[in-house]
Amino acid sequence: MKSKASAPAKVILFGEHFVVYGVKAILCAINKRITVTAETIEENKISIKSNIGNLELEPGGEITEINSPLKPFYYLANKMIRSQKGGIQINVESDIPLGVGLGSSSACCVAGAAAISGLFKKISKEAILELAIEAEKTIFENTSGADCTVCTYGGIMEYDKKNGFSKIESEPNFHLVIANSKIEHSTKSVVEGVKEFKERNENTFSTLCKKESKLVEDVLELLKENNISELGNKITKNQEYLETIGISNDKLRKMVQIGQNKSFGTKITGAGGGGCVFALTDESNLEETMNQFKDENIDCFSVKIDFKGLDTF
Ligand code: PMV
Repeated sequence: MKSKASAPAKVILFGEHFVVYGVKAILCAINKRITVTAETIEENKISIKSNIGNLELEPGGEITEINSPLKPFYYLANKMIRSQKGGIQINVESDIPLGVGLGSSSACCVAGAAAISGLFKKISKEAILELAIEAEKTIFENTSGADCTVCTYGGIMEYDKKNGFSKIESEPNFHLVIANSKIEHSTKSVVEGVKEFKERNENTFSTLCKKESKLVEDVLELLKENNISELGNKITKNQEYLETIGISNDKLRKMVQIGQNKSFGTKITGAGGGGCVFALTDESNLEETMNQFKDENIDCFSVKIDFKGLDTF
């Protein structure tokens, strides 16, 4: 018995960090994917093979004792296998760069939950999402679930702590150039740094939250209108706010500057401190923007919004 699923990566378009303090964020799925194949085997083992390493354990192990980024797969397989004799073989193929804020671990959890559960029974997307968030909590206890949600449903979503998620029914036709600083970041420690900034600068921070809220409301209108050049201006503005709260560094600043030369706007996406920036482009400036990064030996690739989300085969 074999089951296969794939899920897309994501970027945070607007609102990272401020979302922690109640501001709305906007996320979208992008067309880079992780594909997970699960297969039942006779041997009594859970075996996971991926391009970041392998993990092989007997079923029934203690999840807290496992120190591997592949832990969510083991968690899911272990949960499903209970009533079953034999084991599960899992293969993971990814074209998402890992650990740089593009949602690779959420995509793993979503595709993993779908592929592994698919071996036993057909469950709804909602149930797969629930399982995926449970699995993600084995590596990031405080996850908001935002990444898994956008990976499951695809498209663009707004999210805030009070109201949760809702899909934005607009299909803007832009390209994002994603440039990778290759600096791995710990989301947790960057979030702690922002908390310290907030505690030292309560007034500035509260003003920035208000400005970011207004900016996100404007963006929601601009997305409906597909107004790319104005969206670019909002990206540039949002980047200024991210600079102020101290999540940038010399490399990211340089990358933002390079992106700004030819794109409509460039900003950090996700926690910052490392990870990626994205530049907003359309057909007219996509290639030029890519070339600007390549000329400076910065790894980059272009993506579009993924409207499909989770796919099962
Ligand atoms: O680095 P990422 O893409 O996982 O982004 C983290 C987003 C933050 O707003 C910084 C934190 C959060 O929990 O929302």
